Amino acid sequence: MITKEQLQKLSIQEVLTRYPFVLTYLENNKIKVEGYESLTFHEFRNQFEEHELEEWAMDLSKLEEELIVFISQMLEFLGETENSVDSLTILPGQDKSGNPETFEMLTIRKSEIIAIVGPTGSGKSRLLADIEWTAQHDTPTKRGILINGVTPDKKWRFSSSNKLVAQLSQNMNFVIDLSVGEFIELHAKSRLVEQEEEVVSRIVDAANYLAGEKFDLNTPVTALSGGQSRALMIADTAILSKSPIVLIDEIENAGIDRKKALKLLVGEEKIVLIATHDPTLALMADKRMVIKNGGILKILETSKEEKEVLITLEEMDTKIQALRSSLRAGEVIKNIE
Ligand SMILES: Nc1ncnc2c1ncn2[C@@H]1O[C@H](COP(=O)(O)OP(=O)(O)O)[C@@H](O)[C@H]1O
Ligand SMILES: [Mg+2]
Repeated sequence: MITKEQLQKLSIQEVLTRYPFVLTYLENNKIKVEGYESLTFHEFRNQFEEHELEEWAMDLSKLEEELIVFISQMLEFLGETENSVDSLTILPGQDKSGNPETFEMLTIRKSEIIAIVGPTGSGKSRLLADIEWTAQHDTPTKRGILINGVTPDKKWRFSSSNKLVAQLSQNMNFVIDLSVGEFIELHAKSRLVEQEEEVVSRIVDAANYLAGEKFDLNTPVTALSGGQSRALMIADTAILSKSPIVLIDEIENAGIDRKKALKLLVGEEKIVLIATHDPTLALMADKRMVIKNGGILKILETSKEEKEVLITLEEMDTKIQALRSSLRAGEVIKNIE
């Protein structure tokens, strides 16, 4: 969806890149924009004198309004309204003491992972909530959130079928009495997925890939362990959810392969933000925001050196996992190798 305010900020080239079908619309209406691509439609219209406009096939003064209607209808027709998020921008606000945040702005693009680190109570969950709410300087932090570089329509906040954000929260309690297969099927149906069976099995495969212990389509949802249900939710979000932004709040104790989970989410072209105390997850991210006293203190890019540390960390993780399995299996531990 696009508002008039948003359209007025985009050049013709940007509009055509984002909505290629607009070209056909312009051609059908004999509106020639060649050579004017760097202008907005408003500026384009102002290039012409009144008498010149009379010869055009359509009333140019209504162009913007008609374009908005056309774009909205096309997006609805194409079923693509949810997928049109290419970037998420965080604009600075203030910390708990009211001091302004000093970063300029942070833009996150598809397939990027951003970690959020900082002590308990520092404001990590608050930042995720700002994003979910597409804050417009109207939360305690006074931050602003832009989508594709512009102030998002407030409809994102209230629409449940058209949700901007898929949030994987700390507590996920299944209360319904369904099998895993029925649960995903229900979900797939509500999303109007076409190849339902294929999607259901893709999700279960992915979930099993993430979870330590295997389960199948017939496993009752209530019989899943914490790690298994978390794995199922992540696979479901990655594959089925059209939400372009995934927010993850403190995933570490979930007993799933976190590295695989992040890769799965990012592979599906999502923007991933993860609040974490876990060094492996923090260093897997492309960047990390350091939160202090409710404010974003700094934004660090994961350096080459840090990526090397990550390799060591992963080796350590593997050892810990192996130790965990041995203990579970009732073995006596002699030394760690
Ligand atoms: N910039 C801010 N201004 C005012 N209150 C804030 C700010 N940032 C966080 N808070 C509040 O501080 C409390 C702790 O933040 P929270 O996000 O839960 O911390 P964390 O997830 O890091 O443990 C919450 O009540 C939150 O609303
Ligand atoms: Mg928190």
